Amino acid sequence: MTTTNTPAALTERHVGEIAATLPGASAVFRAFRIDFCCHGNVPLAAAARERNLNVEAIVQALQALDTRGETAATATTLDSATLIERIRTRYHDAHRRSFPELISLSRKVEAVHRANPKVPRGLADLLEEMASELEDHMAREETTLFPAMQRVESGLAATIDELRHEHDDHGALLRQIETLTDDFTLPAGACRSWAALYTSTARLAEDLMEHIHLENNVLFPRFAAAAGAAA
Ligand SMILES: [Fe+2]
Ligand SMILES: [Fe+2]
Repeated sequence: MTTTNTPAALTERHVGEIAATLPGASAVFRAFRIDFCCHGNVPLAAAARERNLNVEAIVQALQALDTRGETAATATTLDSATLIERIRTRYHDAHRRSFPELISLSRKVEAVHRANPKVPRGLADLLEEMASELEDHMAREETTLFPAMQRVESGLAATIDELRHEHDDHGALLRQIETLTDDFTLPAGACRSWAALYTSTARLAEDLMEHIHLENNVLFPRFAAAAGAAA
Protein backbone atom coordinates (compact mmCIF):
# COMPACT_ATOMS: atom_id res chain seq x y z
CA MET A 1 0.00 0.00 0.00
CA THR A 2 1.11 3.57 -0.58
CA THR A 3 1.71 6.40 1.86
CA THR A 4 -1.89 7.56 1.28
CA ASN A 5 -2.87 5.01 3.93
CA THR A 6 -0.62 6.37 6.69
CA PRO A 7 -2.69 7.57 9.70
CA ALA A 8 -2.03 11.24 8.93
CA ALA A 9 -2.96 10.85 5.25
CA LEU A 10 -6.08 8.82 6.00
CA THR A 11 -7.51 11.44 8.34
CA GLU A 12 -7.25 14.07 5.58
CA ARG A 13 -8.86 11.95 2.86
CA HIS A 14 -12.59 12.23 2.16
CA VAL A 15 -14.67 9.35 3.51
CA GLY A 16 -16.45 8.80 0.17
CA GLU A 17 -13.12 8.51 -1.62
CA ILE A 18 -11.75 6.10 1.02
CA ALA A 19 -14.89 3.97 0.71
CA ALA A 20 -14.51 3.98 -3.07
CA THR A 21 -10.88 2.91 -3.14
CA LEU A 22 -10.20 0.82 -0.02
CA PRO A 23 -11.99 -2.55 -0.11
CA GLY A 24 -13.86 -3.16 3.16
CA ALA A 25 -13.79 0.50 4.21
CA SER A 26 -17.53 0.93 3.75
CA ALA A 27 -18.18 -1.82 6.33
CA VAL A 28 -15.85 -0.05 8.79
CA PHE A 29 -17.71 3.23 8.22
CA ARG A 30 -21.06 1.52 8.73
CA ALA A 31 -19.82 0.04 12.01
CA PHE A 32 -18.79 3.52 13.21
CA ARG A 33 -21.94 5.06 11.69
CA ILE A 34 -19.95 7.42 9.45
CA ASP A 35 -22.09 8.63 6.54
CA PHE A 36 -19.85 7.86 3.56
CA CYS A 37 -22.61 7.84 0.93
CA CYS A 38 -24.70 11.04 1.19
CA HIS A 39 -21.97 13.08 2.91
CA GLY A 40 -18.86 11.56 1.39
CA ASN A 41 -17.10 14.87 0.67
CA VAL A 42 -15.85 15.27 4.24
CA PRO A 43 -12.33 14.47 5.52
CA LEU A 44 -12.23 11.50 7.88
CA ALA A 45 -11.00 13.65 10.77
CA ALA A 46 -14.00 15.99 10.42
CA ALA A 47 -16.48 13.12 10.03
CA ALA A 48 -15.15 11.54 13.24
CA ARG A 49 -15.32 14.86 15.08
CA GLU A 50 -18.94 15.38 13.99
CA ARG A 51 -19.90 12.08 15.61
CA ASN A 52 -17.67 12.49 18.66
CA LEU A 53 -15.61 9.48 17.63
CA ASN A 54 -11.95 8.76 18.20
CA VAL A 55 -10.42 9.04 14.75
CA GLU A 56 -7.47 6.83 15.78
CA ALA A 57 -9.79 3.87 16.31
CA ILE A 58 -11.27 4.32 12.84
CA VAL A 59 -7.83 4.65 11.24
CA GLN A 60 -6.70 1.46 13.00
CA ALA A 61 -9.75 -0.42 11.72
CA LEU A 62 -9.09 0.84 8.18
CA GLN A 63 -5.43 -0.11 8.33
CA ALA A 64 -6.32 -3.57 9.62
CA LEU A 65 -8.26 -4.34 6.45
CA ASP A 66 -6.65 -7.07 4.43
CA THR A 67 -6.67 -5.68 0.90
CA ARG A 68 -4.34 -8.20 -0.72
CA GLY A 69 -5.66 -9.27 -4.08
CA GLU A 70 -8.84 -7.25 -3.80
CA THR A 71 -7.91 -3.97 -5.42
CA ALA A 72 -8.95 -5.18 -8.87
CA ALA A 73 -12.48 -5.70 -7.55
CA THR A 74 -13.03 -2.10 -6.45
CA ALA A 75 -15.64 -0.15 -8.36
CA THR A 76 -13.25 2.62 -9.31
CA THR A 77 -11.47 0.25 -11.69
CA LEU A 78 -14.66 -0.56 -13.62
CA ASP A 79 -15.49 1.30 -16.79
CA SER A 80 -18.69 3.34 -16.56
CA ALA A 81 -20.83 1.00 -18.69
CA THR A 82 -19.94 -1.95 -16.44
CA LEU A 83 -20.48 0.11 -13.30
CA ILE A 84 -23.90 1.26 -14.51
CA GLU A 85 -24.87 -2.33 -15.28
CA ARG A 86 -23.75 -3.40 -11.81
CA ILE A 87 -25.76 -0.61 -10.16
CA ARG A 88 -28.84 -1.59 -12.17
CA THR A 89 -28.72 -5.33 -11.58
CA ARG A 90 -27.14 -5.52 -8.11
CA TYR A 91 -28.96 -2.56 -6.50
CA HIS A 92 -31.97 -1.27 -8.49
CA ASP A 93 -33.33 -4.75 -9.17
CA ALA A 94 -32.55 -5.90 -5.62
CA HIS A 95 -34.42 -2.94 -4.08
CA ARG A 96 -37.43 -3.65 -6.32
CA ARG A 97 -37.46 -7.28 -5.17
CA SER A 98 -37.10 -6.38 -1.47
CA PHE A 99 -39.78 -3.78 -0.86
CA PRO A 100 -43.08 -5.68 -1.42
CA GLU A 101 -42.11 -8.45 1.03
CA LEU A 102 -40.76 -6.01 3.63
CA ILE A 103 -43.87 -3.84 3.49
CA SER A 104 -46.22 -6.77 3.95
CA LEU A 105 -44.04 -8.26 6.72
CA SER A 106 -43.98 -4.93 8.48
CA ARG A 107 -47.76 -4.54 8.27
CA LYS A 108 -48.10 -8.00 9.80
CA VAL A 109 -45.66 -7.33 12.68
CA GLU A 110 -47.23 -3.93 13.39
CA ALA A 111 -50.71 -5.51 13.55
CA VAL A 112 -49.89 -8.67 15.51
CA HIS A 113 -47.70 -6.87 18.08
CA ARG A 114 -49.60 -3.57 18.26
CA ALA A 115 -49.78 -3.82 22.08
CA ASN A 116 -45.99 -4.09 22.37
CA PRO A 117 -44.43 -0.66 23.07
CA LYS A 118 -41.35 -1.68 21.06
CA VAL A 119 -43.34 -2.29 17.88
CA PRO A 120 -41.98 -0.16 14.97
CA ARG A 121 -45.27 1.66 14.42
CA GLY A 122 -45.27 3.39 11.02
CA LEU A 123 -42.42 1.35 9.54
CA ALA A 124 -44.60 -0.05 6.74
CA ASP A 125 -45.68 3.47 5.75
CA LEU A 126 -42.06 4.66 5.74
CA LEU A 127 -41.00 1.70 3.63
CA GLU A 128 -43.86 2.38 1.22
CA GLU A 129 -42.83 6.04 0.93
CA MET A 130 -39.23 5.00 0.32
CA ALA A 131 -40.22 2.40 -2.28
CA SER A 132 -42.27 4.94 -4.20
CA GLU A 133 -39.59 7.68 -4.08
CA LEU A 134 -36.85 5.23 -5.04
CA GLU A 135 -38.85 3.79 -7.91
CA ASP A 136 -39.34 7.24 -9.42
CA HIS A 137 -35.66 8.08 -8.85
CA MET A 138 -34.28 4.82 -10.28
CA ALA A 139 -36.57 4.98 -13.30
CA ARG A 140 -35.22 8.45 -14.17
CA GLU A 141 -31.65 7.17 -13.80
CA GLU A 142 -32.41 4.22 -16.06
CA THR A 143 -34.34 6.08 -18.74
CA THR A 144 -32.50 9.42 -18.79
CA LEU A 145 -29.20 9.65 -16.96
CA PHE A 146 -27.60 6.25 -17.56
CA PRO A 147 -28.29 6.20 -21.33
CA ALA A 148 -26.87 9.75 -21.62
CA MET A 149 -23.76 8.63 -19.71
CA GLN A 150 -23.37 5.65 -22.02
CA ARG A 151 -23.57 8.01 -25.02
CA VAL A 152 -20.88 10.07 -23.20
CA GLU A 153 -22.98 13.22 -23.40
CA SER A 154 -21.94 16.36 -21.54
CA GLY A 155 -24.17 18.86 -19.73
CA LEU A 156 -25.39 16.35 -17.15
CA ALA A 157 -24.39 18.40 -14.09
CA ALA A 158 -27.88 19.72 -13.31
CA THR A 159 -29.52 16.29 -13.55
CA ILE A 160 -26.79 14.77 -11.40
CA ASP A 161 -27.15 17.52 -8.82
CA GLU A 162 -30.91 16.90 -8.62
CA LEU A 163 -30.40 13.15 -8.17
CA ARG A 164 -27.78 13.78 -5.47
CA HIS A 165 -30.34 15.82 -3.53
CA GLU A 166 -32.80 12.95 -3.82
CA HIS A 167 -30.11 10.66 -2.38
CA ASP A 168 -30.04 12.98 0.65
CA ASP A 169 -33.83 12.50 0.97
CA HIS A 170 -33.40 8.71 0.80
CA GLY A 171 -30.72 8.97 3.49
CA ALA A 172 -33.08 10.98 5.70
CA LEU A 173 -35.80 8.31 5.36
CA LEU A 174 -33.22 5.68 6.24
CA ARG A 175 -32.30 7.57 9.43
CA GLN A 176 -36.00 7.65 10.38
CA ILE A 177 -36.25 3.88 9.88
CA GLU A 178 -33.11 3.30 11.98
CA THR A 179 -34.51 5.45 14.79
CA LEU A 180 -37.91 3.76 14.64
CA THR A 181 -36.37 0.29 14.88
CA ASP A 182 -33.72 1.29 17.45
CA ASP A 183 -31.07 0.43 14.83
CA PHE A 184 -32.80 -2.86 14.07
CA THR A 185 -32.54 -4.02 17.69
CA LEU A 186 -35.04 -6.75 18.48
CA PRO A 187 -36.86 -6.68 21.83
CA ALA A 188 -36.69 -9.76 24.03
CA GLY A 189 -39.10 -12.43 22.85
CA ALA A 190 -39.58 -11.03 19.35
CA CYS A 191 -41.18 -13.53 16.98
CA ARG A 192 -39.56 -14.91 13.83
CA SER A 193 -41.44 -12.53 11.55
CA TRP A 194 -40.17 -9.57 13.54
CA ALA A 195 -36.60 -10.94 13.39
CA ALA A 196 -36.91 -11.53 9.63
CA LEU A 197 -38.28 -8.00 9.16
CA TYR A 198 -35.32 -6.39 10.95
CA THR A 199 -32.70 -8.62 9.29
CA SER A 200 -34.07 -7.91 5.82
CA THR A 201 -34.63 -4.19 6.42
CA ALA A 202 -31.08 -3.84 7.77
CA ARG A 203 -29.86 -5.56 4.61
CA LEU A 204 -31.88 -3.15 2.48
CA ALA A 205 -30.39 -0.20 4.39
CA GLU A 206 -26.89 -1.55 3.80
CA ASP A 207 -27.57 -2.08 0.08
CA LEU A 208 -29.05 1.39 -0.29
CA MET A 209 -26.02 3.02 1.33
CA GLU A 210 -23.63 1.11 -0.96
CA HIS A 211 -25.81 2.01 -3.96
CA ILE A 212 -25.85 5.74 -3.17
CA HIS A 213 -22.13 5.62 -2.43
CA LEU A 214 -21.33 4.08 -5.84
CA GLU A 215 -23.33 6.79 -7.59
CA ASN A 216 -22.31 9.83 -5.48
CA ASN A 217 -18.64 9.00 -5.03
CA VAL A 218 -17.66 6.87 -8.03
CA LEU A 219 -20.01 7.22 -11.02
CA PHE A 220 -21.35 10.78 -10.83
CA PRO A 221 -17.98 12.55 -10.38
CA ARG A 222 -16.83 11.08 -13.72
CA PHE A 223 -19.55 13.06 -15.50
CA ALA A 224 -20.05 16.17 -13.36
CA ALA A 225 -16.96 17.15 -11.43
CA ALA A 226 -18.43 20.54 -10.57
CA ALA A 227 -21.71 19.13 -9.27
CA GLY A 228 -19.73 16.47 -7.36
CA ALA A 229 -17.60 19.04 -5.63
CA ALA A 230 -20.66 21.01 -4.57
CA ALA A 231 -22.50 18.07 -2.97
FE1 LIG B 1 -29.42 4.27 -8.63
FE1 LIG C 1 -29.51 7.22 -7.37
